[in-house]
Amino acid sequence: MLSTADFNLVRDLVRSRSGVVLDDEKAYLADSRLRQLAKDVGMASATEVVATVRAGRNAALTQKMVEAMTTNETSFFRDGHPFEALQTVIVPELMRRRAAERRLTIWCGACSTGQEPYSVAMVLREHFPSLSGWDVRILATDLCTDILARARSGRYTQMEIGRGMPQDLLAKYFDRDGTGWVVRDTLRKLVEFRQYNLLSETTPIGSVDVIFMRNVLIYFDIPTKHAILDRARGALRTDGYLFLGGSETTWNLHDGFARVPCGRAHFYRVLNIGPPVARPRAG
Ligand SMILES: C[S@@+](CC[C@H](N)C(=O)[O-])C[C@H]1O[C@@H](n2cnc3c(N)ncnc32)[C@H](O)[C@@H]1O
Repeated sequence: MLSTADFNLVRDLVRSRSGVVLDDEKAYLADSRLRQLAKDVGMASATEVVATVRAGRNAALTQKMVEAMTTNETSFFRDGHPFEALQTVIVPELMRRRAAERRLTIWCGACSTGQEPYSVAMVLREHFPSLSGWDVRILATDLCTDILARARSGRYTQMEIGRGMPQDLLAKYFDRDGTGWVVRDTLRKLVEFRQYNLLSETTPIGSVDVIFMRNVLIYFDIPTKHAILDRARGALRTDGYLFLGGSETTWNLHDGFARVPCGRAHFYRVLNIGPPVARPRAG
């Protein structure tokens, strides 16, 4: 088991590099993830990993350690309703509003192994054939190098496919790949994967119509959640749509968004909060 000093070092680094907060109960998790990392990089133990990181001469190992402590849980069409809303309300609305420019950009801000952006791509390909004449871009970003490499490869095990992928879409958009499956180019070419740290990246993401930023705010403390919602607000067009995860909200965190019900889902719309109101001085 990691010593308290080792766990504290891991905790501090993970927080400062990714924003992810590890509470005391995560000491066991840290130990088992770092034991796996030690095996992967040919070290003897989690303690050796931490000692090497502490010595400060192995930036790649430090990054791997931070990445090892993220949770990458995801699935195809996770939580269903946001994808329904995309299909039945949002894309039709955007196609009307963007008819002159014929451009649509969707950002998946913590895309993990890619199931979320590929699900978005399937909604677009399956239900909106006329978008083929448009400039459509799904920008899928995440912090983790290895996770992004998996996402880019588009390769999924039978078990991953079993989590949420309808049979008809599987037959249409995936090919057999050994015992698993690989995404076809028709989807892959809609999605651009890029490494992007929501906490510290300085390049703005640009201007997007829809943001999926789901199941990532839960790992951050309140000031970080606020800063990342600010980043989302800065990237979203004024009439754009923000989806958060099922247990996430902007409520009590950021007053620059309004929650809008949409079928069985809800999204957040940018509110024009304007400059701070001048308050009368006391006395
Ligand atoms: C639980 S997954 C969510 C995946 C997907 N959005 C979904 O809802 O199924 C959370 C993802 O957030 C990523 N993440 C954590 N901290 C991050 C940061 N500071 N910047 C970008 N991505 C981060 C993790 O690498 C992980 O892949």
